[in-house]
Amino acid sequence: MALEDAVLGYLDKNEEISDSGKFADEQGLSHDEIVNVIKSLNGFRLVDAQDIKKEKWVLTQEGSQYAEAGSPEVQLFLAIPNEGITQEDLQKKLDPSLFKIGWQQAIKNKWIEVIKSRDSGKSQDAGKLQGSGKKSQDSAKSQVSRKVENVEDRVKDLLIKIQNGEDVGSEDIDALKRRKLIVQQTWKGYSVKKGPKYAPKRKKAATDLTRENIQRGDWRELEFKEYNFSAKGQPVEGGHLHPLLKVRRQVQMIFLQMGFEEMPTNNFVESSFWNFDALFQPQQHPARDSHDTFFLKEPSTTRTLPEDYVQRVKQIHESGGYGSRGYGYEWKREEADKNLLRTHTTAVSSRMLYALAQQPFAPKKYYSIDRVFRNEAVDRTHLAEFHQIEGLICDRGLTLGDLIGVLHDFFSRLGMSKLRFKPAYNPYTEPSMEIFSYHEGLQKWVEIGNSGMFRPEMLRPMGLPEDVHVIAWGLSLERPTMILYGIDNIRSLFGHKVDLDLIKTNPICRLGL
Ligand code: PHE
Repeated sequence: MALEDAVLGYLDKNEEISDSGKFADEQGLSHDEIVNVIKSLNGFRLVDAQDIKKEKWVLTQEGSQYAEAGSPEVQLFLAIPNEGITQEDLQKKLDPSLFKIGWQQAIKNKWIEVIKSRDSGKSQDAGKLQGSGKKSQDSAKSQVSRKVENVEDRVKDLLIKIQNGEDVGSEDIDALKRRKLIVQQTWKGYSVKKGPKYAPKRKKAATDLTRENIQRGDWRELEFKEYNFSAKGQPVEGGHLHPLLKVRRQVQMIFLQMGFEEMPTNNFVESSFWNFDALFQPQQHPARDSHDTFFLKEPSTTRTLPEDYVQRVKQIHESGGYGSRGYGYEWKREEADKNLLRTHTTAVSSRMLYALAQQPFAPKKYYSIDRVFRNEAVDRTHLAEFHQIEGLICDRGLTLGDLIGVLHDFFSRLGMSKLRFKPAYNPYTEPSMEIFSYHEGLQKWVEIGNSGMFRPEMLRPMGLPEDVHVIAWGLSLERPTMILYGIDNIRSLFGHKVDLDLIKTNPICRLGL
């Protein structure tokens, strides 16, 4: 700020700074720095600066050498002793180009005399002795002596004057210019007057109005920095869609395009009854072990179940019905009441089908995509929670052929058109089929889902008519997501070890062809 104060302070006492160059010299300041300060003050209109352009002579490199060491002609003159010297010896004493220039100038100035050795003492203009060959052989032996006693180094003096910015006559300028000792340069500076916003000291613009400013009352004097509306703000930290959400959205679109309705899956806590018993899963089934299922401690049991339906479920488990022999074991209500984290979304399907059976029959196509929980050891492909995609169609007279047809339709929309089915077992479906798809990248068949036709032991106790069949299938959302996004460890997709870069930068999801 010292420089700024120097400029503003000077203008407080003087009308103007007529020449920034002179001002800088007088104050012993660097002109370049003064120029920067003037430009800035001019920008804020504290001063009014006008350009000054001056053509200035400056010394060339050669010029500055002579300004220091003297002109070549003087250097040459001083190299000649009082008694004279041969041209050869004189040449040895001086740098060749210096000798050449000095020689010419000294002759021109008539400072030296040259007497040719084989000449009978006749002096000659040295200019004529220049050259090569025989002639210069002769001239080498010429005797050189001073013609005047003293010389004055005008060239050096002129160069120093120019260096100091003093005025030099135009004839001298021309001569120096011809000898390439000086060149012209445009010098830029300013003349400076007070500007419309002049103040002897610049106030630093305040960026904030503080509590202290108000208490002290100095807000009245403060100048506030104008708000910069075109400044670029901080980049906005937006949210990012997780790959699972992207794939879920696409699968959802497929179901909707196929005319399916979404089932309400907003209850992670389910009773064993809807998760297992209603699905004709026997109470001794290993999946109902606490090693495979998370049971709830609080609340440990469900509050209400549809009692008449519970009785029909108990009966089908114990002694069968509708042409089934049942399992032949003693069904316990306490087991059915136990709360758990649902192990599959088929628990929701059973609730939905029961609800459907309570009304005059109408065919339905239902789907859901939501979270399920299994008490499993975590590894590269398993987590204790994952997402299930589930679809079902409930209609009269559906067959296994319908299931296969729908699966082809559904999976080809997902981009998997080569399918194979393998007989499987589920307590609630008969027949059951595992679904395999040929993976072009992996060059092999990979299991992609499970399917089947719900058993009469499940549907009839609900109250569905005998000719109503339900075809259904389920798969995980994680499996296709990992294949689509090339993720080989489920832990980088979901959970506390998730790869945040992946979450922020994953590409859009496109299924199918
Ligand atoms: N519930 C089955 C599972 O968890 C999937 C499935 C749904 C199978 C519907 C058949 C019918 O794997």
